[in-house]
Amino acid sequence: MSSNRFDRLPVLLDIATEAALAGGAVLKAYWGKLDGVEEKGRSGDLVTAADKAAEARVLEVLNRHVPEHGILAEESGNLGQQESPFLWAIDPLDGTTNYAHQYPLFAVSVGLLIEGTPAVGVVYNPATEELFRAAKGLGATRNRVPMRVSTTGSLDRSLLVTGFAYDRRERDDNNYAEFCYLTHLTQGVRRSGSASVDLAHVACGRLDGYWERGLSPWDITAGIVLVEEAGGRVTAYDGSPLDVTSGRLLATNGRIHQETSDRLLEVQPLADLPGVGHLTGRSPVSN
Ligand code: IPD
Ligand code: CA
Ligand code: CA
Repeated sequence: MSSNRFDRLPVLLDIATEAALAGGAVLKAYWGKLDGVEEKGRSGDLVTAADKAAEARVLEVLNRHVPEHGILAEESGNLGQQESPFLWAIDPLDGTTNYAHQYPLFAVSVGLLIEGTPAVGVVYNPATEELFRAAKGLGATRNRVPMRVSTTGSLDRSLLVTGFAYDRRERDDNNYAEFCYLTHLTQGVRRSGSASVDLAHVACGRLDGYWERGLSPWDITAGIVLVEEAGGRVTAYDGSPLDVTSGRLLATNGRIHQETSDRLLEVQPLADLPGVGHLTGRSPVSN
């Protein structure tokens, strides 16, 4: 990244914050008042008036401050100057299923890629009033107080989180085996329903690690910056450098990264996993 682009990060972080807070205000206004919920094509992939209105507010803020940048927004697709080295990755409502059920765990996720590298991230959860912010080289904060990843050093002492993409019914690699295996090896695996909140929770140390497949750049760009700037590590499942368009990601506190990667790579069909096969119906269960 060239130095002049890097120098603008504090300003870009403030723009991202303004955009996330503006989107969050819309989500608060619609909370509990949705008229209807549409499906975007795939069963369970929902979109609401709140997603669209929040995205419009985020875009309005970005267009006012940085009309020369490119944008990739979940509901609107590619906008702005796509040849720019600056690309904003926007999820106006990450956790739509939670939101539609009035389950208070969701966020606005505003991330910025500079020359393809996640460089700025703001994740704002209006339900808890938590504002997670980070920019490359500037550290990470939760409600303006510096945050760090956990210090948990082994998988058997870890609490992880994951998620399941909307194509899970159509695919064999739907993450069910990974979920089962890592549940068996850890203190637990949560499924929150918001990838950006999952990454924020790894960044602030509530969770020790997160993995998922089927993700889009708008789900993860902001959260990647949060985890990295809070001292954690984000890679592909095998520990190689992450491509934000690959859909798969492993984010941890760093200390459990190698062990989690090793376990993810050895996942087998459910019935063949050591110590888990008996849970899949091969042996009788009494309740
Ligand atoms: C979803 C959430 C969920 C993850 C899905 C995402 P959406 O985003 O982040 O946690 O498991 O893969 O698509 O649809 O609520 O914006
Ligand atoms: Ca999302
Ligand atoms: Ca969304």
